[in-house]
Amino acid sequence: MKKIILITFVGIIAFLLSCDDSSNKSNDSSNDPVSEEQAKLNESLNPVAIGLTGDSFGTDATIAHNGAPLTTDETIRDVYTNLSEGESIRVGTIFTKHTFLKGEQGRKSDLVVTFAMIKREAGYYPDGGDWEYVKMPNDGTNNYLQNPNGKLPTTEDNINRGKIVACASCHQHPLAGSDFVFTY
Ligand code: HEC
Repeated sequence: MKKIILITFVGIIAFLLSCDDSSNKSNDSSNDPVSEEQAKLNESLNPVAIGLTGDSFGTDATIAHNGAPLTTDETIRDVYTNLSEGESIRVGTIFTKHTFLKGEQGRKSDLVVTFAMIKREAGYYPDGGDWEYVKMPNDGTNNYLQNPNGKLPTTEDNINRGKIVACASCHQHPLAGSDFVFTY
């Protein structure tokens, strides 16, 4: 009788260990770089500058950031990051900027576009401060509850993502400081 109990006990332990092993394996397979990047973007929610409007950085440096003929006074812009306050910019740093239409009584209305900058390794794009530039127009295809900073375009979409000269050339502005960033 004791022998049967012992065998059953060893069997149960072996079964539990094998379950544990298989669950580790399934975690490894979800380790894909695209969803990891999206997850990092989603977590970049520390406010840097909220409710910007007009041309605080000078008329030559400020656009409404939406591709539509709107003046900076007609938009409200919010900037967020994954850095904690006072932390220096490093590889992996993300900034996002949400541009909204300014509605009645100066209130925030529809989101037009979300922009992002992701700091890449030295040498990635020296003329752009080694930032990857990302443009995510709000075309209704993203669920903002799931992806609060927008849905990253694929890396093949080099119109909306990558070494975008039009972004970098303005972010080189003296008021943007040494690292192509205006608000941090
Ligand atoms: C004509 C100048 C100009 C161009 C072009 C431009 N930006 Fe900006 N950007 C600014 C200014 C000025 C700010 C500071 C916030 C504000 O006033 O809206 C800013 C802020 C940002 C921020 C927040 C971090 C920071 O620097 O403060 C991100 C992210 C950003 N821009 C992304 C982009 C992307 C991506 C593009 C190209 C699709 C782009 N920008 C094109 C001027 C520009």
